[in-house]
Amino acid sequence: MTQHASYGPVHGPPEGEISRRGFMRRMLGVGTGLLSLQFIGGTIAFLWPNVTEGLGAQITLGTAETINTAAPQWAEGLPYVYNQANLFFVNVPAGQARVEGEGLVTTPIPDPGDEVVALWRKCPHLGCQVPQLCEASQWFECLCHGSKYTILGQHRDGPAPRGLDSFPVSVVDGEYVIDTREVVSGPPAGTTGFDERTTDSIDHCTG
Ligand code: FES
Repeated sequence: MTQHASYGPVHGPPEGEISRRGFMRRMLGVGTGLLSLQFIGGTIAFLWPNVTEGLGAQITLGTAETINTAAPQWAEGLPYVYNQANLFFVNVPAGQARVEGEGLVTTPIPDPGDEVVALWRKCPHLGCQVPQLCEASQWFECLCHGSKYTILGQHRDGPAPRGLDSFPVSVVDGEYVIDTREVVSGPPAGTTGFDERTTDSIDHCTG
């Protein structure tokens, strides 16, 4: 206990010991620090890119055989729909035969070295998701404003400035790998392609 000239004896903790109020203050500081760390950690974890699937990742689709088992019509030129990366994976030689108007063309399961294209399902007009192939027209038809694309992603009608964008594809150990970290711009609208049908001459899924 110490003496103060005006207030008399002053009570406090013995020297070297922490007061109860000081202890509470420290605990409050520690608690706040822990909460802040937890918040910062959670924010970083939330913002950290997901590298195993979705855009921004390298995605292994599998071999031509596994794709063809999952989607037998892929060898006939119909797109393999891969939703995890929002893309259509197209066997170009068989797809081209359809676009050229040869109808149903059954080709052998493509060799992994064959030409393929991974089309992004994001419409290059205003970004709507492009629906699956319209059976009537055999084109991809955007429901938002009516842009239309062939199976190979070439622009055929509507306000979009170009065909569908795509992702680079490589073959690693016989498996197709799509690199969604890079987007390849689609061919400009008006580019002549194989499918010369006019929009009036065929049935459509959109107006
Ligand atoms: S977003 Fe597809 S046509 Fe407009």
